[in-house]
Amino acid sequence: MVTLGRTLTSEFVECGRPNLTPQNSRPSGTVQYRNDGRVVIVTGGCNGIGRAIADQFAQSGATAVVADIDTQLANSLPSAVHFRQVDVSSEDQCQELITWVVATFGGLDVLVNNAAIQPPSSYVRVEDVDRTSYERMLSINLSGYLFMAKHSLKVMRQQQSGVVVNISSGQGHRTARQVPVYGPIKAANILQAMQWGVEYAREGIRVVSVSPGAIDTPLVRASLEAQGGERELANRHPLGRIGRPEEIAYAVLWLASSDASFVTATDLSVDGGLKAFGAFADPYAALRE
Ligand SMILES: NC(=O)c1ccc[n+]([C@@H]2O[C@H](COP(=O)([O-])OP(=O)(O)OC[C@H]3O[C@@H](n4cnc5c(N)ncnc54)[C@H](O)[C@@H]3O)[C@@H](O)[C@H]2O)c1
Repeated sequence: MVTLGRTLTSEFVECGRPNLTPQNSRPSGTVQYRNDGRVVIVTGGCNGIGRAIADQFAQSGATAVVADIDTQLANSLPSAVHFRQVDVSSEDQCQELITWVVATFGGLDVLVNNAAIQPPSSYVRVEDVDRTSYERMLSINLSGYLFMAKHSLKVMRQQQSGVVVNISSGQGHRTARQVPVYGPIKAANILQAMQWGVEYAREGIRVVSVSPGAIDTPLVRASLEAQGGERELANRHPLGRIGRPEEIAYAVLWLASSDASFVTATDLSVDGGLKAFGAFADPYAALRE
């Protein structure tokens, strides 16, 4: 069982007024999830956000299977989390994984499409996009989501139950300079979830997406410079800090649970208020000091 609702701390800088949480003075409330007996696949679960999601599912009783290419990091996964070496850009490997999961654990209840790349070298203007890097991002960030969903939805349709969660990004809603490939693909991940959600809505299946703001993971640390540095990135979020991987996991656990039974074909921003902050707004005071 996972109890959600903790005092937030971050190794990352906080800008402006410290992020006061209700726990400081008043009860904040908690949510508890049980996922006993459920079978969950998380792609890209060896690191960052995917790892936190797999961890929270396993801690709440699910059989969590991480599908990732990083065999070295796989050794550090908690023992309750299963690992399969899978490159999601290969449809054959995606299909084999799902066949193995169903044969081994008897079904598939939740798919979390999370594996994606954003190499620092991809921060260029569209005229400088390197074809090889473009095609690699397309094949993982877009086709990988489709291959995993295609073969999972076949199983879920037979079961007449299941949830698919696409991890998208704030960059799927709004854009910035120098993300000519990553951002548009993240927008497509949102539309994938909407389209698949509508298509399977009458067959016991829900499909949603989650759009994180900046979250403290290796992917973000690798591109801090391109994003203006740690302090600037934190300050761009109304909450004055970037998020932690668990904060995305908590949203995914809720969306994948029966508490979210009327939620499908839609997107949830988990972004510290980023989406609501207009580009024309004054920056927060911390940067003007
Ligand atoms: N970190 C952020 O601030 C942020 C913000 C918005 C959205 N996102 C999205 O969240 C998701 C996770 O991001 P993260 O920051 O945790 O990334 P990360 O780089 O920390 O982890 C990505 C994981 O995916 C795996 N992976 C890479 N290529 C793969 C492939 N071909 N097949 C299988 N696994 C593969 C990596 O080995 C790694 O374990 C991505 O979809 C990303 O676009 C992240």
